[in-house]
Amino acid sequence: MANVKFHAGESFPLEMHKVRIIQKLNLIPIEERLRAVKEAGNNTFLLKNRDVFMDMLTDSGVNAMSDRQLASMMEADDSYAGSETFSRLEKSVKNFFGVKHFLPAHQGRACENILSKIFVKEGSIVPMNYHFTTAKAHITINGGKVEEIIIDEGLKIRSSCPFKGNIDINKLNAIIRDHGAQNVAYVRMEAGTNLVGGQPFSLENLNDVSKICRSANIPLVLDASLLADNLYFVKTREESCKNMELREITRKFAEASDIIYFSARKLGFGRGGGICTNNEEYFLKIREMVPLFEGFLTYGGMSVREMEAIAVGLDETLDEDMISQGPIFIDYMVRELDKKGVPVITPAGGLGCHVDAKAFLDHIPQNQYPAGALAASYFIASGIRGMERGTLSEQRDENGNEPLSNMELLRLALPRRVFTLSQVNYAIDRMLWLYKNRKLVEGLRFVEEPKILRFFFGRLEPVSDWQDKVVAQFRKDFGDSL
Ligand SMILES: Cc1ncc(COP(=O)(O)O)c(C=O)c1O
Repeated sequence: MANVKFHAGESFPLEMHKVRIIQKLNLIPIEERLRAVKEAGNNTFLLKNRDVFMDMLTDSGVNAMSDRQLASMMEADDSYAGSETFSRLEKSVKNFFGVKHFLPAHQGRACENILSKIFVKEGSIVPMNYHFTTAKAHITINGGKVEEIIIDEGLKIRSSCPFKGNIDINKLNAIIRDHGAQNVAYVRMEAGTNLVGGQPFSLENLNDVSKICRSANIPLVLDASLLADNLYFVKTREESCKNMELREITRKFAEASDIIYFSARKLGFGRGGGICTNNEEYFLKIREMVPLFEGFLTYGGMSVREMEAIAVGLDETLDEDMISQGPIFIDYMVRELDKKGVPVITPAGGLGCHVDAKAFLDHIPQNQYPAGALAASYFIASGIRGMERGTLSEQRDENGNEPLSNMELLRLALPRRVFTLSQVNYAIDRMLWLYKNRKLVEGLRFVEEPKILRFFFGRLEPVSDWQDKVVAQFRKDFGDSL
């Protein structure tokens, strides 16, 4: 965001865009919110949007598009094969990353499916800074095992480390030594590490990982879905990159990687995805898979309108005013909650504000899903839906045991350019109220537990009548307020 100082010495985010289309929101009374969360099995994924006031579930496919993106969608050239739209998208992606080949896919997990099918075999190891739910599911379904080798600081809730998403180089060397390079399918580096608070890696760390991978002949795969946030942090936090253009930094990320994939629901503010590489052998292998799983090579499951929007969105990702909006709003929310003692991940990362449910609800055992309980109770208190990112989002191991997550987080995503500062202040206010009344909140238990990606559609119930108590306290404190 532009360098603007304020007369009174305060500091707050200033939007460098204006709103020209709006959508009306509903804030239903707390009794209705309780009904809605019960109907949703206490799983915020199962809430109906008509019952939600602020949707902070995710930034996936819900960022606000620019006027240029919307205009471009009107010019889409609809053709199964060889559309002008695809040529524009291809040119935009190649120009953005400086790569030779681009293959389209309908979203990020489709890329993960293809890459896992090609590279992962029974017994393969896939080291990565940290897993993402769908990336891990595709690797394990193909017989591989994920090894998380993020630096120790990355798993600390409170920290001043600017690059908590870095890979620990010693751990990477040890894995290659212990398992043998031939058993490492690839190394996956995730930009803006989603599940540990949207934390970035540094360009220096990516280059170090790349050198090791190249000398061991192991492909380095960059998950660039959250690249925009990571780019912003590299530009503002990494001394050697301060004077570099965003394009130059992006190109350096690409040069260090052998394969790049991304969800364009995040990168490019559209709905789609794709895989890039300069390597001919990988390109040919991936190309075989695209028509099989995604669609013909010139659309890969995406609509032409979305492809046009992504082409423009990538271009706009190189504008610092655009990509700073998320991190600066998130930083504001994190700082305000932190000042008042609410446990949050620091430093603020990308993607959203992450509340530490283990500390917030330290009276709830992890097998009663404190982050899930926090998501449900926060919805009751505010009408805001966040996402559980803790033990519920884990999957059971091959023996049916439930691994307890390293972190129990309630993620409050800030879809870019969607919420105003007063809405963010409302979100902060209701979180402060809930924190004051946190002892009322108790745990959850499953009533329906799907085997794969259970957090998406599993259903839970409260272990007691604690939710009624939250509603009663709200009425006592706020009277007839919504
Ligand atoms: C880091 C990361 N990788 C991959 C994905 C999967 O992308 P998609 O939701 O488009 O399938 C996501 C989605 O949230 C993500 O955050």
